[in-house]
Order: sequence, then structure tokens, then C-alpha cells
Amino acid sequence: MSVFVIKMKKKKNIEFHKRSKEDFKDFIKKLELQALETAEERLPLYLEVGLKDAKNILDVGCGSGTVTKDIAHLTKGKVIGIDGSGDMIEVAKNILKDYKNVELYVSSAETIPFRDNTFDIVTCNLFFMWVDNPQKVINEMTRVTKPGGRVLASLEPDYGGKLHYPENPKIDAVFAGKAIKERGGDPHIGRKLRLLFVRAGLETKVGIGNNRIWNCEEDKSYYLHARDFYVKALKGAGLSEEEIDKWEYEYLKSLDEGVQLNFFPQFYAIGRKPEDL
Ligand SMILES: C[S@@+](CC[C@H](N)C(=O)[O-])C[C@H]1O[C@@H](n2cnc3c(N)ncnc32)[C@H](O)[C@@H]1O
Repeated sequence: MSVFVIKMKKKKNIEFHKRSKEDFKDFIKKLELQALETAEERLPLYLEVGLKDAKNILDVGCGSGTVTKDIAHLTKGKVIGIDGSGDMIEVAKNILKDYKNVELYVSSAETIPFRDNTFDIVTCNLFFMWVDNPQKVINEMTRVTKPGGRVLASLEPDYGGKLHYPENPKIDAVFAGKAIKERGGDPHIGRKLRLLFVRAGLETKVGIGNNRIWNCEEDKSYYLHARDFYVKALKGAGLSEEEIDKWEYEYLKSLDEGVQLNFFPQFYAIGRKPEDL
């Protein structure tokens, strides 16, 4: 596969993941949990783009490699993962050490170090939300896709569509995108996927990957695993420990009573690169 590489500059560790060193370990845990929780939503998308029979696949913004692992499991082809963060690639190398069909590189997605028309499938997951220049990145992803090949953004959230009941206006505002925005992410990336893909010249289909509403046990288990994240986000938004404790008590109570409803749209986009692009 190295024949495809134009130039692989060794980059210093760029903090593309937008997390401090202290938060990094928790972030890796969260990515692992998210990969597990979203596996059933990503699988039909992988099948739809023809992952099984693809010869070569690029996973852009592969992070710690937990999603790359799912991809490598499903295909007989070669999988290349790139991420702008050297720390992430180190973790991914460890997670994927037994996978002979995977190669990993540190690279910015704004200048992907592969020739035009190289890959059958170029994919990414929970990625565009954190990208500074998404149009430049999707254009690059399209460039390295073969004519007739597919570009897939598997899950990109839109916090503007986050619904839940019973509500807590003060806390809900933090999780309706404020916390993501403060970290440099785009909480409304989901609704922008169509525009990004179409502008890149792709024949585009968008949809919502998570059309199942979780039951309260699932919500509780997710919350307890990711609790540190929630608490940090609330502290970061200026809430006192007392306010956080009170909210947590009420939230867990509503889950234990089985009355809480949560829905959070995760958009996907599939783009086919036209033969003449
Ligand atoms: C939320 S993580 C998702 C990782 C992985 N796809 C997953 O679903 O577990 C986003 C990743 O995108 C990477 N990233 C953000 N902007 C990037 C860019 N411009 N080029 C390369 N990687 C980038 C970050 O370093 C981070 O690892």
C-alpha cells in the first residue's frame, strides 16, 4: 500500500483531538464506549457502501482505532487509518497490533498524503464535528476516492435536535451544544453534511443512523460509563457541585422510574464519486 503514499511527513503531535493531556485518557475510554454503542448503527452503512468487498479503505480521523477495528473485521481489503494526532495514532497502533490488514499514519485530513483516485471507500466516524475546515476535508476525501467509489461519514451528531423529557433548562443548554462549541467542535454538523458532500461533487444520500430510542436501562448504563465527562462539562459551564448533584439525582431517578426519554440524532452521509469527477 505504501506505493500510494505521495509524501509522509513526520508531524509533531498536533492536538487535533482538542483535549488536554489530563482529559486524554477519559476521551479514549469514551471513544471505546461510543464505538461499542454505535456498532449496530454503523454496520448497515458499511454493508451499503460495499465494505466487505472493497480492496482498499481509508478511515480518516481514525482516533484511537476502535472504529477502524470494526472496519478491519468486516473487510477482506486493506485498511489505512490516518489521524492528525500522534497520541491517537500511538493508541490505535496498540489497539490494532494484531490486525495485519491495517496501516496507520499521522496526517492532517486537509492534505491527505495519497494520490487521486486511490481508495474504493473513504470513511470517517464522529469526525466532521471536530474538523476546523470540513469543506476542505471532504474535498480531499473525495479526491482520493476512486470514480464510482464511496465516501461515508457514518455518524455525525446534531445537538440542535437533542430531545429529552423531563427537562432541566439550565443543564439541557449545556448539553445542547454549548460544551461542544466551547471545545472548538461544531454541534450542528449533522445538518451540514448534505451541503458539504454535494459541494464536493458527490452524488449524496443522507439519513439518521440511530433511529432506535434507547430504553432507560441503556441510557443509565451509558451515563454511568461517561459520568466523568458529563460532570466535567457541567463544571466547565460554571455549575456548582450542589447544582450538579441535584441534577444527577433527578436524572438518575427519572431513569430508575423508567420515565426519561432521550433522543439525539446522529446523521450519516453516503456520497458516490461520479465517474467524470
Ligand atoms: C471524536 S474523534 C473520533 C475518532 C474515531 N473516528 C472514532 O469514531 O472513535 C475525532 C478525531 O479526529 C481527529 N481530527 C480532527 N481534525 C482532524 C484533521 N483535520 N485531520 C486529521 N485528524 C483530525 C482527532 O485527532 C480525533 O482523533
